[in-house]
Amino acid sequence: MSSVNAIISGTGSAVPSRVVTNADLEKIVDTSDEWIVTRTGIKERRIAAEDEHLAPFCIEACRQALDAAGVKPEEIDLIILATVTPDMPLPATACTIQHELGCHKAAAFDLSAGCSGFLYAQHVAKQFLVTGRMRHALVIGAELLSKYLDWEDRTTCVIFADGAGAVVMSSGEQPQGVLASALHSDGSMADFIQMPGGGALHPPSPETLKNRMHFIQMRGNETFKIAVRSLSDVCREVLDAAGLKTSDVDCFVPHQANQRIIDAVAKRLKLSADHCYVNIERIGNTSAASIPIALDEAVRKGRIKSGDIVLMAAFGAGLTWGGSVVRW
Ligand code: ACO
Repeated sequence: MSSVNAIISGTGSAVPSRVVTNADLEKIVDTSDEWIVTRTGIKERRIAAEDEHLAPFCIEACRQALDAAGVKPEEIDLIILATVTPDMPLPATACTIQHELGCHKAAAFDLSAGCSGFLYAQHVAKQFLVTGRMRHALVIGAELLSKYLDWEDRTTCVIFADGAGAVVMSSGEQPQGVLASALHSDGSMADFIQMPGGGALHPPSPETLKNRMHFIQMRGNETFKIAVRSLSDVCREVLDAAGLKTSDVDCFVPHQANQRIIDAVAKRLKLSADHCYVNIERIGNTSAASIPIALDEAVRKGRIKSGDIVLMAAFGAGLTWGGSVVRW
């Protein structure tokens, strides 16, 4: 008897139309195009307009993914939105998406795991699909990081960006689908990437505003070193679990955090640049949105085809990290 797996049946993405170049940032903070390109690989990024918010980008990405999968909104059983930049702390932005799309029977919730959020959501959705409990899920990674950035802090505002990506995951017969996935976290380094103000620990107050605690803060250099090691380890872990080698990988879609991190991981895994899908130059670091946006681009360009082995890995705030390997 063939077993049931969780198949990625459609992809979609949406980014703001406003392009912000490194030259634009040179006018705001003490930085240079040369520094940003050599240290991160980013040349430009998409930043939402003042009157734009998160849900419409998610809805557009979901509509594309539903269309590609040939699944109707009313067939969706589950919606998980991975984000650290929801429209409001309460209620979950996933519920707005559920209502606007007309996914009447879907359970919907937000999930917070930093840049690893999309892979966390993919793993959670898989559990419902492989048991037969659910048939179709929308898994979204989306961020409007620009709304949470300190535009006077050159160590963060040049890196992060806005966008949304979504996939439909459906239960189906092997051999397609998620072959193996793994999630990890280590809260001992929680202060490496954080936004300390606005929660129960530091409720909003004139003091938290004055101390700029409502903005994302990052210890980039320390994060960098752990990211390279953790991403390499989790890629090996999921490939081993699937009984595959790096030479079996057709396309590696890493979290687009930093070109140097991607290069270092690819080198450790002995994956050539041709095997890596990278869009950081145009899109920047969109945290939980980065893998689903890259996946959607790669699929639409024919870079990922049916039957391909696709490796994904992400690392972010928490600290959290995870990986997954999928037969497309
Ligand atoms: N322009 C010019 N100079 C800068 C800038 C800038 N935008 N930012 C920092 N600098 C300076 C620093 O002040 C420092 O100067 P100093 O030597 O005089 O003190 C120098 O550049 C080097 O700073 P580093 O922080 O050591 O630079 P690094 O090479 O590590 O690059 C970066 C910084 C790009 C942030 C990198 O460390 C990185 O990508 N880290 C990983 C980020 C990541 O993966 N995060 C996880 C996901 S995020 C999430 O989960 C939400």
